[in-house]
Amino acid sequence: MTKASPEHIPVLLDETVTALNIKPDGLYIDGTFGRGGHARAILGELSSKGRVLGLDKDPEALEEGQDLAAKDERFTIEQCSFAKLSDTVKTRFWQGKVDGILLDIGVSSPQLDIAERGFSFRKEGPLDMRMNPGEGKSAAEWLAYASMDEITTVLKTFGEERFGKRIARAIVETRDASPLRTTKQLADLVDKASPFREKNKHPATRTFQAIRIHINNELDDLSLVLQQAIDVMAIGGRLTVISFHSLEDRIVKRFFRDQAKGDDLPAYFPITADQLNPSIKLIGKAIKSGEEELARNPRARSAVLRVVEKIK
Ligand SMILES: C[S@@+](CC[C@H](N)C(=O)[O-])C[C@H]1O[C@@H](n2cnc3c(N)ncnc32)[C@H](O)[C@@H]1O
Repeated sequence: MTKASPEHIPVLLDETVTALNIKPDGLYIDGTFGRGGHARAILGELSSKGRVLGLDKDPEALEEGQDLAAKDERFTIEQCSFAKLSDTVKTRFWQGKVDGILLDIGVSSPQLDIAERGFSFRKEGPLDMRMNPGEGKSAAEWLAYASMDEITTVLKTFGEERFGKRIARAIVETRDASPLRTTKQLADLVDKASPFREKNKHPATRTFQAIRIHINNELDDLSLVLQQAIDVMAIGGRLTVISFHSLEDRIVKRFFRDQAKGDDLPAYFPITADQLNPSIKLIGKAIKSGEEELARNPRARSAVLRVVEKIK
């Protein structure tokens, strides 16, 4: 399956590897292994003593990672959410020793391109959308019982879909007559329920994004991992996060800003900025893909890389 599956072109690859400021003997974690583009590039910078741990929820990413682990003893992979980072690190006795962590958030190209995964409104497949199909409810299962209010909230919050209520009503009316089972059924339903089209955007884009984020608990996982990532790193360790839409980037940006500021004391307190105990410092500004990468990989269009270093 892995061999025949579509490729994933890693986004902001050189920028991320540079930002990690790799120590040849260091310990690194790729929290979103995918097809291993970033992990392989990190391994390329390491000596025989360096190590990379890959994490991914997805069984096909796991399979790819197991292939890599069989060829390169410096690499190991575990199938779990990066929201369990602390536990995973503890079992390896890596607490406080990790030199760098990469999170390349969201879905991989193979997840979108393989119709059976049910992520894409462009391909007919079962309405699944789980990164780990062995865990939790599929999109079809959730849509079979969720209330109209719940669906509306998901569409508005995670898809910023202004016709959320109208689409939710159409979903509930349709599924009450007969269950929604496929991606095309949902895409056609949203198409019909949407009063007008945005230029160059399928009307179901926002609905699919919203349901995918909800089904995979994506924003909660992201909020949970950031503090853990700082905690498990050594002083000088770098955390690099690539996000693909404003909802994710907002979480990362705010967390980094707050941690780099330190204790939340009133402005009139007579202390200097470093006495506020910041745990990290920001490394540069947000990085976006250059023209050359955008021409090669349109998926890089919305990618934003943010980098911090642990200082305390
Ligand atoms: C954009 S892809 C990463 C691609 C990878 N950097 C590469 O070069 O091949 C995102 C991957 O992260 C995984 N993922 C997303 N959220 C996750 C989470 N909370 N825990 C673990 N893996 C996650 C997805 O299953 C997907 O394989």
